[in-house]
Amino acid sequence: MAFKINDRITWVGKIDWELRKFHGEEYSTHRGSTYNSYLVRDQKTVLIDTVWLKFSREFVDNLRQVVPLEKIDCVVANHAEPDHSGALPELMREIPDTPVYCTANGLKSFKGYYHKDWDFRIVKTGDTLDLGSRKLVFVEAPMLHWPDSMFCYLTGDNVLFSNDAFGQHLASELMYNDLVDQAELFQECIKYYANILTPFSALVAKKIIDVLALNLPVDMICPSHGVIWRTDPLQIVKKYQQWSDNYQENQISIVYDTMWDSTRRMAEAIAAGISEADPSVAVKLYNIARSDKNNVITEIFKSKAVLVGSSTINRGILYEVGALLEMIKGLGFKNKKAAAFGSYGWSGESVKIITDRLRQSGFEIVNDGIRAPWKPDSRSIENCIAFGKAFAAAAR
Ligand code: FEO
Repeated sequence: MAFKINDRITWVGKIDWELRKFHGEEYSTHRGSTYNSYLVRDQKTVLIDTVWLKFSREFVDNLRQVVPLEKIDCVVANHAEPDHSGALPELMREIPDTPVYCTANGLKSFKGYYHKDWDFRIVKTGDTLDLGSRKLVFVEAPMLHWPDSMFCYLTGDNVLFSNDAFGQHLASELMYNDLVDQAELFQECIKYYANILTPFSALVAKKIIDVLALNLPVDMICPSHGVIWRTDPLQIVKKYQQWSDNYQENQISIVYDTMWDSTRRMAEAIAAGISEADPSVAVKLYNIARSDKNNVITEIFKSKAVLVGSSTINRGILYEVGALLEMIKGLGFKNKKAAAFGSYGWSGESVKIITDRLRQSGFEIVNDGIRAPWKPDSRSIENCIAFGKAFAAAAR
């Protein structure tokens, strides 16, 4: 499949409707994804990025239908992660002398992955590649999403090829932002930001300022995943500005796991207390063992405060809660309040363990949490409701 974007640019990527997990098992992709590769034909012909390794042969065969491979003057490799570079070895076997443009960090990553001495050309921000009537302008974008990442901008057509930034894991034959279901699109955008880009928010904010300062007209943003932003393309840039600025909504998420329903009952009583104290706040409960972890991370991203609960087991916490706390630690959320809760039978360490981990992960701990022995009785339930009320007040 190839898709003509305009007289110069053709999409030659892969729509992966089957994808359900990404980054190994780390990221759920309920709506599939795409690996976007773009062919730019001016006096010179340039290929921007490729696709994931498993589609290498298909990609090269498809590309050959669009352009004789020997007519490709150079490859721009914006990012070395294998979802975009995986088909490079297959392509470079066909055109081994073609220059590959990448950043200095890209060179390290490409060599690390593929152990090849292709004709790498190192570029940095402001460098240009003359295509004839147009130029490609390179903009380094370290940590969006790896150290090697970069954008490139096509003058004349005013197209920003942003690689991972502004992308979404959304398979669609419709190709453009204005044609797809807007709720689905923005759900996938915020999930992508929350789960992948949160740790780099400071760099995201700075990069947006840098790019906007260039005062370049932007008629389209072509990311490497999902749909192309052609209608009001800067709307996703504005969203990224909001999301990178300690984003929060008027939401409190309660995330827990439970063995015999005692911690669940605590969660529900705490939720009732929050809602009673502040009916305007959106309180959402997730049993992490029964929920999609990436969707829960997205809800935590949206929250101003979080409560995490676990029964005590073997002097520790339940496995799924431990895994969630590990994800949270890596993402480095900022500007969020938190506390812990949990039931126990005899030792009762879970609340302290969770509290310590949340504190180490940068959450503002508002109190020491709440524990309830065995199955919560009416008094314990009342205590949880009161705890919820106090938490709502602290989170205001
Ligand atoms: Fe889509 Fe960082 O790769």
